[in-house]
Amino acid sequence: MTPPFDKHDLYETCVQSPRHLAPLLRAVHAKDPVVLGEDFAGTAALSYEWVKRDGARAVAVDLDTEALAKHPDHPAVSKVVSDVRTVPDACDVLFVGNFSIGYLHTRRELVEYLRHARERLNPGGVFVCDTYGGESAFLTGEVHRPHPMPGGYLCRYTWEQRHADPLTGMVTDVIHFRLEKAGVIEHEMFDAFVYEWRLWSVPELRDAMDEAGFAKTQVYAKLADAWDDEGNAYVEPVKDAEDELDESFIVMVAGRV
Ligand SMILES: C[S@@+](CC[C@H](N)C(=O)[O-])C[C@H]1O[C@@H](n2cnc3c(N)ncnc32)[C@H](O)[C@@H]1O
Repeated sequence: MTPPFDKHDLYETCVQSPRHLAPLLRAVHAKDPVVLGEDFAGTAALSYEWVKRDGARAVAVDLDTEALAKHPDHPAVSKVVSDVRTVPDACDVLFVGNFSIGYLHTRRELVEYLRHARERLNPGGVFVCDTYGGESAFLTGEVHRPHPMPGGYLCRYTWEQRHADPLTGMVTDVIHFRLEKAGVIEHEMFDAFVYEWRLWSVPELRDAMDEAGFAKTQVYAKLADAWDDEGNAYVEPVKDAEDELDESFIVMVAGRV
């Protein structure tokens, strides 16, 4: 029996939340950004959310043709199948999500990419990527979360850190999905996504941004109370890590031109 959802459907439901992320990025930029660059975009889910605002445009870049073709074309979303390091299109916010900055394994690659990212930004523009850190960053293990799906399905999402080497910073992170209906397991997608990443720390990212020519770097925590009832977001950079970050944390690191 063919599963009613493919791995990209399940990823979008279990991993992403573009309707929260788009206002957060607009708030980080803070001056009414128009053009989003979504690098390492996967299915470009964030870009589609971004262009719901009148006049907004997005450029989504990924190497994976199948992922980028997942959603029907939209006149305001330009999809580019390419390495992120080759795309010149200008933008106001350039975002790299879900730890994809870790595809850049060496500091040289990271700084070269960040330089390229900075050159793409319009005046007032901001580059934002996320990373995780804190006490569990280099521990192996799994976390599970159930997600209701259409049609009475339940998706059990598993995030596994399979390998983690604090001496090299390399991690292997894996996503598995299990689809159940009425308590019966109908489909398993073991190793649906496997990532070999360098886990960059916050200060490593800030140093690399400095070297790549960003004028200022800031760190933002994704706080549960960042959004109002209309879905607008309000954010302040983290000032005191001890007060504002948990022992294990996910943050967004921003570089401004
Ligand atoms: C973890 S997914 C991120 C999906 C989505 N942006 C998100 O926030 O969840 C990483 C994506 O990066 C793409 N990718 C990896 N290396 C790339 C490169 N050098 N240039 C463009 N895309 C790349 C992969 O094809 C994959 O779709």
